[in-house]
Amino acid sequence: MTLIDHYAVFGHPIKHSKSPRIHRLFAEQTGQALEYTAQDVPAEQFQRAVTTFFAEGGKGLNCTVPLKELAWSYADHKTERAQQSKAVNTLALQADGSLLGDNTDGIGLVTDLIANHGLDLSEIRILILGAGGASRGIILPLLKQAPQTLVIANRTVDKAVNLAAEFHNKGSITGCGFDDLNNRQFDLILNATSASLSGQLPPLPAGLLATGGHCYDLAYGNEPTAFVRWGLENHAAKSLDGLGMLVEQAAEAFFIWRGIRPQTQPVIELLDAERKP
Ligand code: ATR
Repeated sequence: MTLIDHYAVFGHPIKHSKSPRIHRLFAEQTGQALEYTAQDVPAEQFQRAVTTFFAEGGKGLNCTVPLKELAWSYADHKTERAQQSKAVNTLALQADGSLLGDNTDGIGLVTDLIANHGLDLSEIRILILGAGGASRGIILPLLKQAPQTLVIANRTVDKAVNLAAEFHNKGSITGCGFDDLNNRQFDLILNATSASLSGQLPPLPAGLLATGGHCYDLAYGNEPTAFVRWGLENHAAKSLDGLGMLVEQAAEAFFIWRGIRPQTQPVIELLDAERKP
């Protein structure tokens, strides 16, 4: 048994995870005594690692790539947003010994957009590029903001159409291919493809971003991603990467575990300053 409450992030690879740093900063800032570690856990070891972690007194876990779907299956019960996203990034030990699964990625994105960057998502036209796990996790929190339209565009068109269909009763949402984006305009374009990490971009027509519109890449890095650069070239009012989302999803997990909301702005500023040359 550990003396202070133990939390961890599991993933593979995990070496470059910023989560331990973020949660230690939150703990320091809020005066919470806790330990937060990172553990390299390949998918085939997930079951054993998570069982051991909680058997040894662990209080909560973050799960990242490639474990979010496995964590979803493992959780005893789930929040609505986790249920819909079919992925869990936060496991929290409950008083009765059961494990609650939540997904704080989508709310992390929405908080970053609204609270940190002053966007109003109601009545705007939103485009999500990509129809994989990252897209699925952000759809419901975005629809809750009542945008005018939410369009999902994907290389494999069927995946976009099917994903949109799953949420049809939650708001105005459709799926399409990149070819269908010609002559359309959006106020907010979110990149949720995994292409950005390898410096690639989906084919995007000129004029896709409305005047005064915003771009947001769910990925982040020390250098601006290919999509952040596309946003700048296309005169986005702001072209952002996912650093703010990362810190906000962590803050939401911290709140679930500790019942206290840390201030995110100083942590975002610190991490942002550290990546500047
Ligand atoms: P994640 O969990 O990060 O979303 P994923 O479920 O494997 O990962 O989904 C990756 C997404 O990026 C998919 O939408 C994928 O498009 P396909 O469904 O057509 O495969 C998209 N993607 C990956 N590389 C891409 C590229 N070079 N151009 C466009 N889309 C790409």
